[in-house]
Amino acid sequence: MKKIEAIIQPFKLDQVKDALKGIGVSGMTVSEVRGHGRQKGHKEIYRGQEYTVDLLPKTKIELVVPAGRADEVIQVLAAAARTGSIGDGKIFVYDVAEAIRIRNDDRGELAL
Ligand SMILES: Nc1ncnc2c1ncn2[C@@H]1O[C@H](COP(=O)(O)OP(=O)(O)OP(=O)(O)O)[C@@H](O)[C@H]1O
Ligand SMILES: [Mg+2]
Repeated sequence: MKKIEAIIQPFKLDQVKDALKGIGVSGMTVSEVRGHGRQKGHKEIYRGQEYTVDLLPKTKIELVVPAGRADEVIQVLAAAARTGSIGDGKIFVYDVAEAIRIRNDDRGELAL
């Protein structure tokens, strides 16, 4: 199993959710977060000095999927989240050791 963690532009959430639903992805966790990439947030000029307003609002999506589906999910997610501008976001991929459905003790991919 793989965990796919995507940090995206908040206004892209509905489009990304629809795209993932379209390929039959079931569970996900969504949080509102703040962050910056390599531009370190917006640059603002004040009295001739450049100040950095860091930590812009972003949306984090976490999904655990069977390892065999990870590439497809990543491609669909990235395509739906992409505008082509800076700040589109980033995807991190992790190995997942185990998953357990609390209700009935299903384990592994059965629990997804
Ligand atoms: N190395 C990182 N570690 C953790 N989170 C990151 C990292 N890089 C980016 N993020 C998260 O992703 C969000 C979007 O990053 P962003 O798309 O601006 O990355 P970037 O590397 O600056 O690429 P771009 O040049 O396209 O803007 C950030 O606000 C932050 O929440
Ligand atoms: Mg950036």
